[in-house]
Amino acid sequence: MTDASAIYAAIQQFIGFDADDAARLRELAPLFAEHGSTLTDRFYAKLAADPEQSALIAGRVESLRQTHMRWLSELFAGDYGERYFDDRWRIGLAHVRVGVRPWWVEAVTSFLRSEGLALIEAHVADPERRAASARSLLKILDLDLMIINLAYADDRVDRLCRFTGMSRKLIERCIAQGR
Ligand code: HEM
Repeated sequence: MTDASAIYAAIQQFIGFDADDAARLRELAPLFAEHGSTLTDRFYAKLAADPEQSALIAGRVESLRQTHMRWLSELFAGDYGERYFDDRWRIGLAHVRVGVRPWWVEAVTSFLRSEGLALIEAHVADPERRAASARSLLKILDLDLMIINLAYADDRVDRLCRFTGMSRKLIERCIAQGR
């Protein structure tokens, strides 16, 4: 595995994701706890409407709904350190394992950005707090997506190593050669 957790820490710093963001996300927890179930239902209804995604979730929508609700509550739990990273990485690999193509995770994240911002716009009255909450939500969704994408990329290198018998270092050097 690349040192993805170091990349996560560096990107958190780069985008200025800090204790204020964590506090604002914690403040949003009750709002998303109240509306999370509807959001999750819409999320799975959208996946079910696409034939490829529908086949992947067939027969287990209820258990996936539960895991998605847990994912949503952790998004607003206010703790975004190493344990958060490890958990999100594991979730990324679960999607790799079942064959969810990565651009669908991007698509769903886009849906979550729009829906999440709409909830904030509708329920956070103070304009300054509303704008700051929206920024924090976008940052954490982007960080989650980044971790999942890193897990996908890491898995690809792993597969190449296994298929070719080449070391990770050599594969990484081959990839770098193409630049
Ligand atoms: C940002 C987007 C997404 C989030 C946050 C999300 C969240 C989750 C979470 C938390 C789990 C449980 C993983 C575990 O604890 O092992 C999971 C599993 C799963 N998700 Fe997603 N998901 C997303 C996108 C998608 C998409 C686009 C699909 C397409 C069908 C999908 C299908 C699945 C399936 C099939 C599993 C079960 C994996 C297994 O059997 O191990 N997810 N998802």
